[in-house]
Amino acid sequence: MNAGIIGIGRSLPEQKLTNFDLEKRMDTSDEWIRTMTGIQERRIASDEENTSHMAKKAAEKAIADAGIDPADIGLILVATVTPDQPFPSMACVIQQQIGAVNAAAMDISAACAGFMYGLVTAKQFIESDVYKYILVVGVEKLSKITNWEDRNTAVLFGDGAGAAIVGKVQEGRGILSFELGADGTGGKHLYQDKHLVMNGREVFKFAVRQMGESAENVIQKAGLEKEDIDFLIPHQANIRIMESSRERLGLPVDKMSKTIHKYGNTSAASIPISLVEDVEEGRIKEDDVVVMVGFGGGLTWGAIAMRWGK
Ligand code: UT7
Repeated sequence: MNAGIIGIGRSLPEQKLTNFDLEKRMDTSDEWIRTMTGIQERRIASDEENTSHMAKKAAEKAIADAGIDPADIGLILVATVTPDQPFPSMACVIQQQIGAVNAAAMDISAACAGFMYGLVTAKQFIESDVYKYILVVGVEKLSKITNWEDRNTAVLFGDGAGAAIVGKVQEGRGILSFELGADGTGGKHLYQDKHLVMNGREVFKFAVRQMGESAENVIQKAGLEKEDIDFLIPHQANIRIMESSRERLGLPVDKMSKTIHKYGNTSAASIPISLVEDVEEGRIKEDDVVVMVGFGGGLTWGAIAMRWGK
């Protein structure tokens, strides 16, 4: 039996920061941000709302959705580059908060591809019968490392969390194939010094190439054709990058997830947040073939083809 997602949840801060708000703070415009990135607004966590708070809320929703007992979770993986502190890990912090008393816990640092790395790691432990359930969270409070003086990056990012419970699912469903990758030579294009620093042009070129390639690779590894894909969830970094992968796969506009206009780029949280909305709003249905693909700092990338359903 394959490992698959059996419960999902998300958490977003209340406070919205619109492009018009940003116009007042820096030399930018709603017009530029919308046409160049697709973003209209993003959520910003308050000073009191930390990464672990958002992670806990998303995790609790995923646990309730899966209908499992937290004591049956064998492992917690939290993908984030913005933990509250280097250690204890976010996974340990929420282990205590959600009462997952029997779970091992660790964080994953793979930037915007982190949730893909988490799901793929979970798959290994589930299919080898080591653990029954694994909690995977993608969460970021990017606002705390954003350089609000740098219009090249400040307009792009937002805060939020998404979570999934991974467990065994019916034959034929679940994670069908995956690809993970990294290219450390590109680390210089996207990193944290004090703040987040990015060479947007270079990351853009890498993303357009890698998203399409990885999506095609997982389809092939699953023994499927492009025509078999029902839905695409690309990392929500830039609508132009997302559109290029959608077009390469030959999918119509309504078969691609789009939450970037509301939340901006939430790094490791963007794919699980989108997944929750697509399932809740009926765009993803049982037995749909869904391709998820992420890329980010490292450089890293990851893609998964799955058949949705328990
Ligand atoms: O999750 C991980 C990863 N990150 C990404 O995926 C980001 C990938 N990169 C991108 O999305 C794009 O590179 C950006 C949206 C960041 C920028 O788009 P671009 O087409 O690469 O534009 P650019 O950086 O070359 O800038 C074009 C112009 C420049 O002005 P000049 O030199 O042509 O006069 C910038 O100074 O746009 C200017 N610009 C802005 N103007 C208004 C840059 N940022 C802004 C801004 N408002 N916020």
